[in-house]
Amino acid sequence: MSRPQHFGWFFSRGFGPQGWARPYWEWNWTWTEPRLYQQSARELEQAGFELLIIEDALSLGNPETLDLRTRKAYGGPKHDPLMLVPYLFDVTEHLGITPTVNAGATPPYLAARQAATLQGLSRGRFGLNVVTDTGSARHFGAQQVGHDAAYDRADEWTHLLHDLWHSWDDDVLVEDASSGHYARGDRLRPVQHVGEHFTLSGPLNAVPTRWGDPTIVSPGGSPRGLAFAGTHSDVQLALAPLDVESVREYRAKVLASVGEDRRAAGPIRILFVIKPELVSSPQEADRLVAASANPTDEQLREAAEAWSSDLETDLTAQDPDRPLDLAIFAEHVSAGTIRGLLGKAPDAREVPLRELLARKVRKGRILDRTGLVGTAEEFADLVEQFGDEADNDGFILSGDLHPVTLHRMLDELVPILRRRGVLRQGFGGGGLRDHLLEF
Ligand SMILES: Cc1cc2nc3c(=O)[nH]c(=O)nc-3n(C[C@H](O)[C@H](O)[C@H](O)COP(=O)(O)O)c2cc1C
Repeated sequence: MSRPQHFGWFFSRGFGPQGWARPYWEWNWTWTEPRLYQQSARELEQAGFELLIIEDALSLGNPETLDLRTRKAYGGPKHDPLMLVPYLFDVTEHLGITPTVNAGATPPYLAARQAATLQGLSRGRFGLNVVTDTGSARHFGAQQVGHDAAYDRADEWTHLLHDLWHSWDDDVLVEDASSGHYARGDRLRPVQHVGEHFTLSGPLNAVPTRWGDPTIVSPGGSPRGLAFAGTHSDVQLALAPLDVESVREYRAKVLASVGEDRRAAGPIRILFVIKPELVSSPQEADRLVAASANPTDEQLREAAEAWSSDLETDLTAQDPDRPLDLAIFAEHVSAGTIRGLLGKAPDAREVPLRELLARKVRKGRILDRTGLVGTAEEFADLVEQFGDEADNDGFILSGDLHPVTLHRMLDELVPILRRRGVLRQGFGGGGLRDHLLEF
């Protein structure tokens, strides 16, 4: 038997018309209504997944790229994931749900109150994926701040959430009807805060529950992002190449960032985000990889459109036969997304744009660690190897939150991982944090 690991799902395009114009759109779910996601959440729970993270962005992006982002629904519309969460809690019993929340957009008192409420409503299954995107500041009449300043603000924000959640100490709630005493208001912590980004007075008027604080998830991978994780996070979402050494290195970096206070609250779980393409036989995997070796113009155009949306920059207007001029990207464009387009190859800034896009379209095999196409057995081998040889805590699989997508990915994988002892057989009691700390 192998080391058990934790599994979650990253609902990667957020609460929007995911799968639009793909064949499975014809299943006739209505993306604005909850049933599609409820069905999917039930499947994830049945699979033994502990955690669903819902991507979000608050904005359609800059006015000049609105058409680019909405033409094929790559970058929007998006509805508010927080509003979807209670519908998902209502049809599940064990699944933890952590919508994305932007620390620059929701005032900390309001965020603390919403999170405390949902933590109680869900019996300890709520969490927040804390992000620091600053491009949406104009929608709130706020100043756009830089990368590290956004993390400083998120740091202050998350400290405040914690302080507000703890404005009710254990001995404040008396709930003794015989003495007519509900709470000792004189023992409430006032939480008076004057900081660089926020000024507020507590205490919070929502009470803590026996489930403890909501779970904090963080996705940023820069040194500042990892410092944030080491201070606040229960779960760090990790991205790394597909080899044991890279997983070990990433884990070591995160663990080195963990501070005293965080350590006292329990170990951080580092979960690698991955989007495998699982097929039914090695021959099919080989066929897919071979078929992707020489992308057609149509495939390259589609890749360019998708990246244009993420980068808020029209790559289809660039000369495909020249190297990409990085000066075309405005300052607000995510450095991580630009790095993602360039990839790891040292010649990325010299090859023509056409080749850069072709590299995104070409696929590789899980078997030889050149890519993400393989059978469920081959992917399970990778999962097992990372657990046994790199102490990996687990994986977050990524994709649409759609029953078709889930079944494609999980139908064969779940029984294999269960047989190997890597995936939990079921849930005991407890909330999300209990599940994450169970092994
Ligand atoms: C796996 C993963 C998921 C992310 N999810 C979101 C998201 O839902 N919304 C968002 O605004 N940013 C998201 N981000 C972006 C991060 O919050 C962060 O802004 C970005 O990674 C840049 O920070 P860094 O320089 O510390 O990596 C995500 C990043 C990663 C790696």
